[in-house]
Parts: sequence; C-alpha cells; structure tokens
Amino acid sequence: MSQFEIRDITPDFGAEIVGFEPVELDPEERDLLRRTFDERGLLVFRDLDIDRDYQTYLVDALIDYDRPADAVKQKQRETLVSNKEPEGNAPFGRLLFHSDMMWAAEPFQVLSLYGVEVQPPAVPTAFVSTVAAWETLPKDLRQRVENLHVVNVTGQQRRGDEEEEDLLQPIREHEQSVTTSVGHAHPRTNRTILYVSQMNTREIVELSHDESEELIEALFNHLYDPAHVFKHEWREGDLAAWDNLAIQHARATVKKEGPVRTLRKVISPIPSMAGIETPKFSKVG
Ligand SMILES: [Fe+2]
Repeated sequence: MSQFEIRDITPDFGAEIVGFEPVELDPEERDLLRRTFDERGLLVFRDLDIDRDYQTYLVDALIDYDRPADAVKQKQRETLVSNKEPEGNAPFGRLLFHSDMMWAAEPFQVLSLYGVEVQPPAVPTAFVSTVAAWETLPKDLRQRVENLHVVNVTGQQRRGDEEEEDLLQPIREHEQSVTTSVGHAHPRTNRTILYVSQMNTREIVELSHDESEELIEALFNHLYDPAHVFKHEWREGDLAAWDNLAIQHARATVKKEGPVRTLRKVISPIPSMAGIETPKFSKVG
C-alpha cells in the first residue's frame, strides 16, 4: 500500500505525485492515478528507485493496458535516451515540440522517461498541453480550423523563421504521413486535442500554401505560448509519464560533451509496428 499526495504542477496540466512508494498498486490507488493521468496529462514522480519492469507496470496501469505475456518476457528493446551510452537514442541535438509517432494512424498513448543518470544541469524536457490549447483557442481561430485537416509527417519540418542549427533529424528511407482533423478526438479520453506540431505538421490540406502557413503559425503561437510551457528539470530518480497525445514534448540542444543525461524510455501500449519503419540513424542539420 502506497500513500501519496497529488499536487498540480501548472494551472492547466501536470501533477506531481508526492510520497509515492513503488509497490503494487491497490485498485483505489490505481484508479486515482488513472483519473489524475487523464485529467492532468503529465505525472511527475521524484526520488524513485525503480527498474524497467516497475516502470513498465506503472505506465501500463495508467491506461489499464494488459501487456501480452510474451512481450513482458521479451521486454521492449532497452531504450535509453542518452548523450553518453553507446546505444543511446537521440544522443545530441535539439527536438522541436511533437507527439511521438504523430505521423502514424495510431501513435502509442503513454511515454515515460526515468532519470537513470543525470548530472545537473542536464537539458530539461519541455511540455505543453494540446487539450488546454484546444480549450483556450480564441473563438476566431476555433472557427477557422473547424472542418480543416492537417498533414503530419515524419522528420522535422523546417519553417522560415525556425533556426535549423542543432536540429536532430531522424533518417528514414520512406516518408510516412497521416491526415487528420485539426481538432482531433483523443482516442482514449475523447477530449479534443489541437493536433498540429512544430516537428511534424506540414500543411493544412484545404488551404493554399500561404494561407496554410499563416494559420499554422497562429496555432503555434497559441499552443507554444511560453506562458503555457512547463520545463521539467531532470534529477536522478525522476519519473515523468505523460499522455503522448494530450501533451507534446521538446528539448533544447543536448551536447555529447555536456552533462550526463541518461533517461530510460518506456512506452505503452506496444504500438502496432505494421508498415512502420523506424529510423536507422540520426544526424544534426
Ligand atoms: Fe519524442
């Protein structure tokens, strides 16, 4: 039995779970965590000493996912986001705001990172809420995007005013994309999310290039308003678990020679990888 307290991180999203013990959850606690996750989008736990198995158990519990037994046995590929580990993912560079696999028909739902080895001041992870952004979208913008569709693609999109320096580029043989409505129904909570991102959004289907760019910029100005960005400063033993669609994440430039930043990534559920090509390598530029 774990006793914990829940504290809001920002007025719009995020909750810190204080005093959490990494033991098996009883049904009430599980339910409370799940409801908090759906309401707040991002949960942050501090000072946890957990292995990959517990991290997996916890992220699965947040969406009531029964991981197939063979997948538990095989485990996910050990994924570390790290600037030091030889097999580390995204070892350097900058990542624009995005949801993982936003270019796929069914992105996974929970993304979590655990601070395995962190040397302050490691680059923080930045978060925004796509649910709050939709709910607070000014009326005129809301009317403009009604019935419009957006194309989200693999790779990092570049826009004129965006500095290209340090941008990390996943390399794939084939580009992949998905077209959805701009105001997109979240598959689990059914809340509407603003489904555009700096990294993945190419265009609004129904508009000319210039109109599309103008509208995307207006949406970005709202979604990424610095007043609504929360930056998580990493410490060892931190676990951040967020709804991959209700929350977007980004990071400033990580350098190979910078402070150690090794984060264990666990996602849920296991995404259908049918027809999905994972990037072979990355480069900056
Ligand atoms: Fe990501």
